[in-house]
Amino acid sequence: MRHVCKIYPPRSRRGQPVLAIADITFDVIQGEFVSIVGPSGCGKSTLLRMLAGLLPISGGEICVNGYPVRGPHSDIGIVFQSPTLLKWRSVLDNVLLPIDILRRSRSEFKERAEELLRLVGLWDFRDDYPNVLSGGMQQRVALCRALIHDPSLLVMDEPFGALDAFTREEMNLELLKLWAQRRKTVLFITHSIAEAVLLSDRVIVLSPRPSVVDSIFVIQLPRPRTAHMQYSDAFQEYAQRIRERIGIARVVVEPVDDASS
Ligand SMILES: Nc1ncnc2c1ncn2[C@@H]1O[C@H](COP(=O)(O)OP(=O)(O)OP(=O)(O)O)[C@@H](O)[C@H]1O
Ligand SMILES: [Mg+2]
Repeated sequence: MRHVCKIYPPRSRRGQPVLAIADITFDVIQGEFVSIVGPSGCGKSTLLRMLAGLLPISGGEICVNGYPVRGPHSDIGIVFQSPTLLKWRSVLDNVLLPIDILRRSRSEFKERAEELLRLVGLWDFRDDYPNVLSGGMQQRVALCRALIHDPSLLVMDEPFGALDAFTREEMNLELLKLWAQRRKTVLFITHSIAEAVLLSDRVIVLSPRPSVVDSIFVIQLPRPRTAHMQYSDAFQEYAQRIRERIGIARVVVEPVDDASS
């Protein structure tokens, strides 16, 4: 991303344009796992949609694999916050949806779909419809769908935000396993600082809107990462430093004064 800027046009005739992203520049290296954190409304989802070519940029340049993004492209797999599965398609058919859209031959990708579904423990559910799956299972199907066409870049917008803490941790570790096996480049948007530290090689902190890159943290925790690492001093220190950049650490919670109640 080079000096990327986004101005949303006014929504009504008397409305004002919204400067969502002021100036964002960063690189993601092939095979790297990078997280983006920042205050709500700073433009993270906007950035992701522009990267996927789903939304035009207002200035600057975004390149994927050396080519400028000019519209939707198949170099990318996307996982949104909600699974967005088609309820009238079986699990297997949902995973194969991008293949149908790209007009590729299904038989060529059947094996890959099977492999992905096995990897996330959902092969037994291949003929079921999304409504019989839990939220975590649906999100795993969405992950397989994002990977079916073997994109070099996987981008995820708070993919586990709606899941309970337990399932979320499980999904994080599963994602790391998958990433280690496939060596995809991953750009991961999250509200959870702990999640960002646990998963990433680098964490990019965005400023409040209109956003710029506030800081970039290189996370030098050993791999493979384990859930247990969250209790280490090094982990806590990264989390604290990132928290300070986002400004959360500056909020002081006053102790309740018993005498006055
Ligand atoms: N279609 C739109 N038209 C006008 N303004 C928009 C539009 N979509 C988003 N915005 C504004 O752009 C800014 C960035 O929005 P965006 O959804 O990218 O933020 P975000 O960082 O993903 O927030 P969150 O963390 O809450 O998901 C916000 O101020 C939002 O109000
Ligand atoms: Mg968002």
